[in-house]
Amino acid sequence: MAIDTQVAEIEVETSKAIAAASDEAGLEAIRVAELGKKGRLSLLMRELGGMTPEQRQVAGPALNGVKDRLTTAISARKAELELVAINKRLQSEREDLTLPPRPEPVGALHPVMQVFEELAAIFADMGFAVAEGPDIEDDFHNFTALNFPPGHPARETHDTFFLKPDVSGAKKVLRTHTSPVQIRTMVNQKPPIRVIAPGRVFRKDWDATHTPMFHQIEGLVVDKQVHMGHLKSCLTEAFSRFFEVATAQTRFRPHFFPFTEPSAEMDMRCDRSGAEIKVGEGNDWLEILGCGMVHPNVLRSCGIDPEEYQGFAFGLGVDRLAMLKYGMPDLRPYFEADVDWIKHYGFKPWLLPTVTGGLS
Ligand code: DAH
Repeated sequence: MAIDTQVAEIEVETSKAIAAASDEAGLEAIRVAELGKKGRLSLLMRELGGMTPEQRQVAGPALNGVKDRLTTAISARKAELELVAINKRLQSEREDLTLPPRPEPVGALHPVMQVFEELAAIFADMGFAVAEGPDIEDDFHNFTALNFPPGHPARETHDTFFLKPDVSGAKKVLRTHTSPVQIRTMVNQKPPIRVIAPGRVFRKDWDATHTPMFHQIEGLVVDKQVHMGHLKSCLTEAFSRFFEVATAQTRFRPHFFPFTEPSAEMDMRCDRSGAEIKVGEGNDWLEILGCGMVHPNVLRSCGIDPEEYQGFAFGLGVDRLAMLKYGMPDLRPYFEADVDWIKHYGFKPWLLPTVTGGLS
């Protein structure tokens, strides 16, 4: 077949194929088959070398002309196909702004978590960092290093959950308080220390005001020349902020904890005359937390010299504090995953409490 007939045929066939291509991949296949290195046109181009100059003068421009026209046609079809694809995507990904919004989410922050956040904000503002420790503790951290000698009666008051003994016969415990985090912090960190440790604790107990798992926050300050006055002013300031009163009146009652000496319980003024108890002012007193000066034996068991450093510590029940602040009468629904309860008592999770922006 004469070369010009072949070229004319290629042009007609390829133009049809280009017009019929329905996607970019198909178009690319056509380009490779006709114009690619081993494409039909390219093979014909190679024949130019064997032609007489007169033949070449006709065939050369004819081949090049077809090549240019087909290349242009392919680009034009490509642009068309891209436009179709984009319009299709725009159509399918369209947002219908006239749709009504989704119903309000029922998820809410649990009051215990809210109180954790509030106290963390208050103590962070006073320069405290947050420390953590494991829920499963050994006897050393939960008791011995905290100055509960083996066989000491105070161990019995904790209603401890023991795990099965390991090969050495030692029984791990579910921590009965957050005080072991004091030990972990003092062992790992040099004074000055200023931390709070929020967390879960476990005791065998179950009634309207006790659940086998509950929450505490521990506080610990270790530095030179720390005394009870610092403890009292720190707690008075923190709990005035927590209960949102200008300056709450607090009192310390002597108490006993193995890990503090002296030890005290702190009470705050409250008012029980209304339907709900009001904390911060009033004629009655309400017990809020336990505290004291870190016992020298505890400092020593963490490698801190009690002649050089002193510390104060405190520990409080977060669940009870949440009940007091937000007026919940019973502790048990806290852990019943009741959607109605959380809708009523829960907090908006995106409104994090801050001392300056408002706590509750
Ligand atoms: N660990 C104590 C408890 O669970 C609470 C406590 C009292 C912690 C006094 C302290 C403290 O750090 O100084 O009953």
